Amino acid sequence: MCALVDSWLSGLKKAPLLCSARLLLRPVCAGDVEHIQSSVNDRRVCDNLSYMPHPYTMEMAEIWTRNVNYGMANGSCCYWTICDKKNGKFIGSVGISIYKEQEGCELHYWINADEWNRGYCTEAAKRIITHVFEDLNMHRLYVTHRENNIASKTVIAKCGFVFEGISRESLKRFGQFENVVSYSVLRDEYLALKEKGIY
Ligand SMILES: CC(C)(COP(=O)(O)OP(=O)(O)OC[C@H]1O[C@@H](n2cnc3c(N)ncnc32)[C@H](O)[C@@H]1OP(=O)(O)O)[C@@H](O)C(=O)NCCC(=O)NCCS
Repeated sequence: MCALVDSWLSGLKKAPLLCSARLLLRPVCAGDVEHIQSSVNDRRVCDNLSYMPHPYTMEMAEIWTRNVNYGMANGSCCYWTICDKKNGKFIGSVGISIYKEQEGCELHYWINADEWNRGYCTEAAKRIITHVFEDLNMHRLYVTHRENNIASKTVIAKCGFVFEGISRESLKRFGQFENVVSYSVLRDEYLALKEKGIY
């Protein structure tokens, strides 16, 4: 129990608690490993991620959680567990890779497949986008998706990202080459979206 609390507290120093209308975003910690394993081991989730293997074991989830916590300690990333604000239920994960020199970040997310299409990812992504520009003062945030990942494409559109281009067959996933689509938001564009009430 103490180890769990320690892990949670050390993450909290690097990733703040963030709230939105329905969600609590809190730093990923050791206590999330079982949920992470069972969510990512679901092929509906795993097939759409760019690097998680399948089957996805408890050991892999533990290593990922540990690496994310190292990353949070050295400032190269920040990952949050997405929970239901009312009851703490695990919903998914959202994170950023941080490139300090470029004043830029990359956005990552996945939602437990049983919770899809309830607007959770859009809500969590928007909260992180606000954090990236308002609290971290970044210049650019980018995101990519596999060309046929329509759910992710929709989330990205709802968040106001600008299309950049397609990297042809740049991802080899389970033996298949796939096109990857890139988008970004620059600080000025975020401020314009905020003016329009999208943020
Ligand atoms: C992408 C993902 C995170 C979206 O999570 P989510 O909580 O369901 O997203 P939201 O509910 O906020 O938005 C999904 C939107 O896509 C739409 N959508 C989903 N599947 C669709 C499909 N096959 N065709 C058209 N629209 C689709 C939904 O209707 C919804 O749009 P709406 O709110 O306008 O109705 C989730 O599908 C997931 O975890 N996928 C596997 C992992 C992944 O793809 N991660 C991202 C890697 S880039």
